[in-house]
Amino acid sequence: MATPAPAPSLRLLLLLLPLLAVAGALSHPAHEFCAVGGDAAGCGGGGDGTRILIKGGTVVNAHRAEEADVYIEDGVVVAVRPNIPVGADNVRVIDATGKYVMPGGIDPHTHLEMEFMGTVTIDDFFSGHAAALAGGTTMHIDFVIPVNGNLTAGLESYKHKAAKAAMDYGFHMAITKWNDEVAREMEVMVKEHGINSFKFFMAYKGSLMVTDDLLLQGLQKCKSLGALAMVHAENGDAVAEGQQRMIDLGITGPEGHALSRPPILEGEATARAIRLAKFINTPLYVVHVMSIDAMDEIAKAKREGQRVIGEPVVSGLVLDDSWLWDPDFTIASKYVMSPPIREAGHGKALQAALSSGILQLVGTDHCTFNSTQKAFGSDDFRKIPNGVNGLEERMHIIWDSMVETGKISVTDYVRVTSTECAKIFNIFPRKGAILEGSDADIIILNPERSFVMGAHTHHSRSNTNVYEGRKGKGMVEITISRGRVVWEDGILNLAPGSGRYVMMPPFGYIFDGIEKSDAIYRASLRAPVQRGKAGA
Ligand code: URP
Ligand code: ZN
Ligand code: ZN
Repeated sequence: MATPAPAPSLRLLLLLLPLLAVAGALSHPAHEFCAVGGDAAGCGGGGDGTRILIKGGTVVNAHRAEEADVYIEDGVVVAVRPNIPVGADNVRVIDATGKYVMPGGIDPHTHLEMEFMGTVTIDDFFSGHAAALAGGTTMHIDFVIPVNGNLTAGLESYKHKAAKAAMDYGFHMAITKWNDEVAREMEVMVKEHGINSFKFFMAYKGSLMVTDDLLLQGLQKCKSLGALAMVHAENGDAVAEGQQRMIDLGITGPEGHALSRPPILEGEATARAIRLAKFINTPLYVVHVMSIDAMDEIAKAKREGQRVIGEPVVSGLVLDDSWLWDPDFTIASKYVMSPPIREAGHGKALQAALSSGILQLVGTDHCTFNSTQKAFGSDDFRKIPNGVNGLEERMHIIWDSMVETGKISVTDYVRVTSTECAKIFNIFPRKGAILEGSDADIIILNPERSFVMGAHTHHSRSNTNVYEGRKGKGMVEITISRGRVVWEDGILNLAPGSGRYVMMPPFGYIFDGIEKSDAIYRASLRAPVQRGKAGA
């Protein structure tokens, strides 16, 4: 997607060397980065980087699109209105005529530098951020994995990983075991560390998977803290059975992955999680909805008034499982993720659900492994690390497949890629909007330009890309992260360590009124019934 760029600045290249060494198996060339401030020839940035006036574009928020200028100072949007005069000298003026000026994407679901299935995801908080910013995403929420069940140790480890962050990020936290200490730590995470969501894996038996008992305790605790419970919904016990069934049939290749965990197992777990959340009366967020089966359960619950949020991911919206049958293991294995990418038909149905509001926002589940890591499972699909890329591709693919085809409006594009995420995780309108006072996380998209995706031009450290060769229309030409131009003319202008941690407060809008429905429930019980002593 990126166009070739001039020579990188030495400073950033030096910074990148150890990172590139880790990705030794890569075949694509090192990418070009400018130093902060754009000191190398051809590097963008402009002015002092703190005052920018974007003129003549169509400013799109989730609630409306308007012809307006945007003035940014010190990382914050100061004014949004037509015909803002240029004023002072040290203002960089960007001409956005014929282009869309939109909030930067917020990806609700990523796994950077995550230890998983005996290895570590290849993109960390620097290369992942490079990929994100080149693709128009200016914030993401990553999943902290506890260390031996300990949340504090998990958070410490992720703080360390995120020290090289080049854009804003927040954290969800996984819950992998249960005891009083975990319950206490959840409270500390919410009240002191700005984490307002916890994920429960109903799959990955023997590692991350939780029991229904734990899920119930967790849902109850989440409710009391005003934190959103998230689920990876697959029946992990049945998946283990399905995997053994495939091995017994002699099916050891990547196709065995899809065959061992069919949509019915995703539908079952989604239904179970929804019912348990209803029993507790707390909101539920279902991550990576990959099948019609799961989506139907969410639609049914919503029809009945339950507070359920469904998150499809880009891979589930636009790919199908035929790749898993590719005779080349390197190609087939790169599509292995869980729940699996489904057979043709599911993606289109998920797109329709997204456009009609049954599903609310799009993530990526960016969880990249290179071909060497994927080859750990060359004799046994159960050992192929699960995960695909998407952080760099999400904004372009959703624009091309849904806006360009007329399935959603430009305002809905902003809603599903940015605003909805900011609202759900309670950071709107600081994020997810171009309004006075919002963080200046902004993209400028040219609807007339086209893109081609692939491992030779992407910024992820992986040597493969599940969207290899994909072409489309709509190009993010400029990305502004907190008031600084970080992507322009195919060049990244990154500052490792400049990314800020975004605290996310509890009791977002989705909790409003829960206490009223609890009171109505209690009043409806007509119990305890006052009775005389039996036999008296
Ligand atoms: O295959 C996937 N989805 N890998 C990342 C871990 C998860 O389940 O989200
Ligand atoms: Zn998951
Ligand atoms: Zn995930």
